[in-house]
Amino acid sequence: MSRAAVLCGLGGALPATAVTNEELAAQLDTSDQWIRTRTGIGLRYVVAPGEATSDLAVAAGERALESARRTGGDKAADVDLVVLATSTPDRPCPGTAPGVAHRLGLGTVPAFDVAAVCTGFVYALATAASMITAGVAQRALVIGADTFSTILDPTDRTTRAIFGDGAGAVVLRAGESGEPGALLGFDLGSDGGGADLITVRAGGSRQRSTGEPPVEGDQFFAMEGRPVFTEAVINMSESSQRLLDRVGWTPAALDKVVAHQANVRILHAVGEQLGLEEKQIVVNLDRVGNTVAASIPLALTDAAAEGDLLPGHRVVLTGFGGGLTWGSAALVWPDIAPVTA
Ligand code: COA
Repeated sequence: MSRAAVLCGLGGALPATAVTNEELAAQLDTSDQWIRTRTGIGLRYVVAPGEATSDLAVAAGERALESARRTGGDKAADVDLVVLATSTPDRPCPGTAPGVAHRLGLGTVPAFDVAAVCTGFVYALATAASMITAGVAQRALVIGADTFSTILDPTDRTTRAIFGDGAGAVVLRAGESGEPGALLGFDLGSDGGGADLITVRAGGSRQRSTGEPPVEGDQFFAMEGRPVFTEAVINMSESSQRLLDRVGWTPAALDKVVAHQANVRILHAVGEQLGLEEKQIVVNLDRVGNTVAASIPLALTDAAAEGDLLPGHRVVLTGFGGGLTWGSAALVWPDIAPVTA
């Protein structure tokens, strides 16, 4: 056995306002039927005016810390590292994580953001786990939080149907590789050749250095749906398979794949590529949409709260997103109680 990062707390948070497909159809040229059949999404949540990513991150962080306390006692919430995955920070500068750590009363712990869009949570998890195994940290709070409603083009029926706001968080502690909850391995990758497929064109140094205001529309999130669909299926399948090979699990021995909740057709296609049955694939996007960096921890929270994810289950998490980026993680599910919204 060797030193490992062990998952010991889990929580999620959603904003108060739910938006149904029917409400979108009243504003845009779309329908409940189109959105359900093409994406599997029925509902998403959006922040209120003035509400920010950090507000959701703090709520999810509090719940993950409470979850850690319930199984490990008060000391379980004494984290010495905060890693926040987000592509919708409160402000371009500074990072959002230090403010989140401050509001959580965590003192002067190191806190920083990781930007890998929908893969952000897996990248943040790998970063925090590596810092724990290296002995740089003992306990980490890892949060995925995004508010894509703040960067969507209000007239774009496709992205408005897909994306929702939310936050999910886990607590990791130093432990042993043989324990339930130990992160057993990661597979991470990127392909910057696909950077233009998922992007906000304006607002960065490339546009600002021109001295010109952004071209109308470039301040909004833009995505090329079809190639993104294909790349998501290929990269989540291949990344999961590489990790399964490394960990020594067959797809049949796997209990659950918790993939980034982008589109139910993507989830089924990944399942097909890996030769999985439908019951092995966790789905919660019908209730929350694509919540970007929050997607995987929110899916974990829902699945664990509903008894779909049980102690001893062999689990692979897999994500894909802008960058392009992708990543997977493997663990045996621990006996923890998630704290939900
Ligand atoms: N309501 C009704 N029609 C819509 C629509 C909506 N909300 N959004 C798009 N359409 C239309 C398109 O305009 C197009 O019309 P046209 O044929 O007249 O041009 C038609 O539906 C088909 O569009 P297409 O893009 O081929 O549909 P699709 O079946 O590929 O589904 C996505 C579109 C965006 C749902 C799908 O490509 C997808 O999920 N991509 C991945 C998105 C994603 O996961 N992003 C995040 C990854 S991290």
